[in-house]
Order: sequence, then structure tokens, then C-alpha cells
Amino acid sequence: MATNTTMPAKNEYARSRIGQPLVRRPSIDPSKLLPMDKTEHIGGHDVFNVLFVGAGNIMFGSPEGPWNHSFRLEHKLGPRLKVVALIDPDTRRANEVLGKKRDSFVVSAYQNTRVCKNLEEFVQTMTPKETPRAVVIGSPPMFRGTEKPGRNIEIQLLEHFPDVALFVEKPVATGPLEEMKDSYAVAKAISDRETICSVGYMLRYLKAVQMMKKIIHDNHLTVMCTIARYACAYEAIAKPDWWDKSKSFGPVIEQGTHFCDLSRYFGGEVDLSTVVAHSLEWDEHAGQLSKMTVDESKIAPENRIPRVTSATWKYENGAVGNFVHVVALQGQNYSCELEVYADGYNLKLVNPYVQPILYIRQPGDDNETQMTFPDDDPFFSEISNFIDKIEDDDSESGNILSNYEDAVRTYELTWAIRTAAEASRAKTKALAQ
Ligand SMILES: NC(=O)c1ccc[n+]([C@@H]2O[C@H](COP(=O)([O-])OP(=O)(O)OC[C@H]3O[C@@H](n4cnc5c(N)ncnc54)[C@H](O)[C@@H]3O)[C@@H](O)[C@H]2O)c1
Repeated sequence: MATNTTMPAKNEYARSRIGQPLVRRPSIDPSKLLPMDKTEHIGGHDVFNVLFVGAGNIMFGSPEGPWNHSFRLEHKLGPRLKVVALIDPDTRRANEVLGKKRDSFVVSAYQNTRVCKNLEEFVQTMTPKETPRAVVIGSPPMFRGTEKPGRNIEIQLLEHFPDVALFVEKPVATGPLEEMKDSYAVAKAISDRETICSVGYMLRYLKAVQMMKKIIHDNHLTVMCTIARYACAYEAIAKPDWWDKSKSFGPVIEQGTHFCDLSRYFGGEVDLSTVVAHSLEWDEHAGQLSKMTVDESKIAPENRIPRVTSATWKYENGAVGNFVHVVALQGQNYSCELEVYADGYNLKLVNPYVQPILYIRQPGDDNETQMTFPDDDPFFSEISNFIDKIEDDDSESGNILSNYEDAVRTYELTWAIRTAAEASRAKTKALAQ
């Protein structure tokens, strides 16, 4: 069964762009990923101060999905959790979500939470007792991930609270491509200070994903190819900004990023010079959609999003990556799959958001075997590992699977895909004239 070599595969190493040593891509034993109801809150008695940035869906939940960081933190930290402040320019929304928390059994975590319009307000008014140990950043990505005033919350936090740990939502930023160097500068600042930092690519924490990693590791496999497909249910997407490239920077950067990240997690570093892509655009016959709930005529034509983006690339070790993002399905549920091929093996992850199933084909059997992972909660696993890492930096128990620089690389890949698709479209149009 074992192939090639007993050394870790070459593509499990990342060459750093910010001058750090080579790092092996981390993984977690899948048997150690437990849902909330199978774990107890962390031990100890001292207060654990957390600062929330953003009072939106990712932090407090929404009917659209299972995300809700506050809920997972309450379970992980138990009575130790104290949310010292909730920063959001929309103070009405912030007060509303806090009101609900104070009406519930988790009141002790939120009793003294202050609402602040921005970080400066918190810093100017806080007492030393309120110094945060961790900050969870769930503001929209256009307000972070750069060195520019008003969009540099990570740098500001490092200056005010040098020992703080950061949890940052994906994508690390959204902005013009020229700002990519800013995001690498933020990564360098975080790395230079050895700040504990986790980025919310929660699919890496799926049990199914860690099972795939284990199979690859145990059998000393080298990934040959990744094939990722992300087909969203567009009828359910009612946020006008999502349909506007000038606001959300397009569906690959905003949404497909999760699958570009998973592709990199298995395939290794991408040779960005090899990325080629094609798109089906809104003004082509095949790109007409009948069930959009947003009035697209209000969006400038040049900012309307593609219906299909299909990209391919070489990884640095020679393996090939393929990614397709599709805006075609109606109803509610997305259709997402990731296949990973290695000599003798096909590992196929299906439906990772709702009910992950892993299909495995391996040497000695032409049939696929199937694994399911009931009750898996990757949102809890990512928060749980983040807190464990803060509590005991040296222990094996806290394993961060997506650090800031790694996440910037995913952001860069998504920009490379968008740029390649737009270049291809421009070429086709020019030839047609
Ligand atoms: N990992 C996942 O599956 C997942 C799921 C949902 C959202 N997200 C990510 O979380 C982030 C937030 O998304 P959301 O759905 O919660 O958005 P949202 O619109 O529901 O909430 C964002 C909140 O941030 C506030 N805000 C705006 N500017 C701010 C600033 N400068 N400082 C602090 N707060 C500010 C807004 O007023 C709003 O209340 C995005 O990056 C999104 O991609 C990730």
C-alpha cells in the first residue's frame, strides 16, 4: 500500500514569503475532534477576557448557516468568559444582540460588555482589568487586513495589546490587488511578534478533512491532483453587495475562497504564474439567471459577477489543481465537492457544509468505501483549538490549522483566479471585434 518514500511529501512544506522557516502543514488526529456536547469547558478559574469586533452573523449566528462564534466561545470557556467589549459602528445592532445574551443563562459573560463604535473608543475608555486576552475579528473584510488607517485593525491591536491572540475571519481582506503587499505586511507583523493567530478557514477542521490528511500521511502519499467544485444556490443570496464586484470583489474571492484554501491545504503551494481561468459572464446567453432576488440592473455592468469561473493551475511540486465556482443552483443547499488524487487513491469529500461524506477508493478495491461524520462541528473545533493554544502555547492540544500568512496566500490565489478569468474574457472579446 505504501508508496514512494517515508519522508513527508514535498508539497506539505511551504516556502514562506515573509522570511520565516519552512513549516509543515499542520493536522489534527480526527479522533480528537469532538463536538461541544462531548467536551467540558476548559479548566481553571481566572477570568478570560475576549474582545469582539463585529456584531454580525458570524459572531452571533443567523438562519443562513451554523456559524456563531459567541456560542462556541461560551461553551469552550464556560463561566470564565468575559466579553469586555463589542466593537461595531452599528451600535444599535450591537446593543440588540447583547440584550438577547443578557436575557439568557450566559448573562455573566455579557453583563459588563461595553459597546464601542471603534477600537480607539475602547482603548481610551478601558481599565487595565479589561485588557483582552483574545480578540475575535468578524468585521467585513474590506475594513481589515491592510496597513491603511481605518482598515488596519490587526496592526492597531498588536500595538495596543502586544500579548493578545487574534482570531480573524476569512478572507483576510478584500480590496484592490495592489494591496496584497499590505496583507503580507500584516502577516509579517503578526509573525514577527509571535502572536497566536488563527484564520477562520473552518473546513480544515472538519473530521472528514482530517481523515483525508491522515490517509495521505499514513500511506506516505504525494497528492497528484485536486479537483474542487463550489456550486452555490444563488436564489438564497439576497445581499446586493455579494452580486457587486466593487463591493465584495466577486464570488471566488468572497465565497470560493474556502475551497481554494482546501485545495492548497492538500496540494501545497500554487505556482501563481500558471493560473489560467475562464468565466461565463452575466451578459452571455448561457449566463442568464431566472431566479435572482436582487435587482442586478442597479449594479454597474462592469461590476456584475460571473456565473461560472473555472480555473486550473500547477502546484509548486508539479501537481495540478482545478477549481470551478458556479452560480447556477436555486433553492437553498449548495453543492460542493473536493477530490484529491494520489497514486492508487481517490479521496472525495462531498457536502462538507451540511452533512460531510468521504468516499475513499484505494488500492486493492475498485469500489469506493464511504465514511460519514455525524455531529461534527468544525466551527467549535477551530475555536476550541485556538483557546487551547492560548492557554498552553507549548502543548500539543491546541493546533491552529490556518495561520495568517497561509490565509493571505489563499487570498492571493483567489485574486489570481479572478485576474486570469478577466484577462481571458477581455481577450475573447477583443478577438470577436
Ligand atoms: N467561515 C464562515 O463560514 C463564515 C460565515 C459567515 C461569515 N463569515 C465571514 O465573517 C465576516 C463577517 O461576516 P458576517 O456575515 O458576520 O457579516 P455581517 O454583515 O452580518 O456583520 C458584519 C458586522 O460588522 C460591522 N462592521 C462594519 N464595519 C466594522 C468595523 N470597521 N469594525 C467593526 N465592525 C464593523 C457591521 O456593522 C456588522 O454588524 C466576513 O469576512 C465573512 O466572510 C465567515
